[in-house]
Amino acid sequence: MEYTELINKRRSIRKYDLSKPVSEKVLSKVLEAARLAPSACNIQPVHLIVIRDKKVKEELKEAYSREWFFTAPVIIAGCVDIEAAWKRSYDNFNAAFVDLTIAFDHLILAAANEGLGTCWVCAFNPAVAEKILRVPSNIKVVALTPLGFPAGEPAVRIRKELKEMVHYEKF
Ligand SMILES: Cc1cc2nc3c(=O)[nH]c(=O)nc-3n(C[C@H](O)[C@H](O)[C@H](O)COP(=O)(O)O)c2cc1C
Repeated sequence: MEYTELINKRRSIRKYDLSKPVSEKVLSKVLEAARLAPSACNIQPVHLIVIRDKKVKEELKEAYSREWFFTAPVIIAGCVDIEAAWKRSYDNFNAAFVDLTIAFDHLILAAANEGLGTCWVCAFNPAVAEKILRVPSNIKVVALTPLGFPAGEPAVRIRKELKEMVHYEKF
């Protein structure tokens, strides 16, 4: 899909068609897009957990209980190594969440390009998710997304006007 069309078409999808499986070939294209994302100092601290197993999904309900989330055939957990990530010397700003966000956005746009739906989810209990997914203590689970073919059309999204977010010369 052409880039402008892609960013216009992507929507958060909260209803999936479980009867349409996501092939390994398509999944690997989506994961590859995340792999190619830039990261501070090229440290590449991002990890992705691909969840297809019904048992693991069932366990994850303790961290995020919304029914719609589990209508997707695949769930991806976006994780980042906060110890490995680049830190700015002036103020110790940690780039981990920025790196994760870029990689996850690549993944989400690549998914949309394949006709797949996703939805950034942060409103889960991270401590519970990290325990269930057995992530080491230096790794944070930052975002989850379902991945699957959408069932129906999502609601129209509203955005601020450009003039409300863009400033010229000074804020
Ligand atoms: C950082 C972040 C966290 C989000 N967390 C959630 C969430 O926990 N649950 C949810 O249903 N949607 C979540 N969303 C999706 C937003 O609600 C959605 O992106 C926004 O309403 C705009 O709609 P659109 O994605 O269809 O353009 C999140 C999005 C972002 C970027």
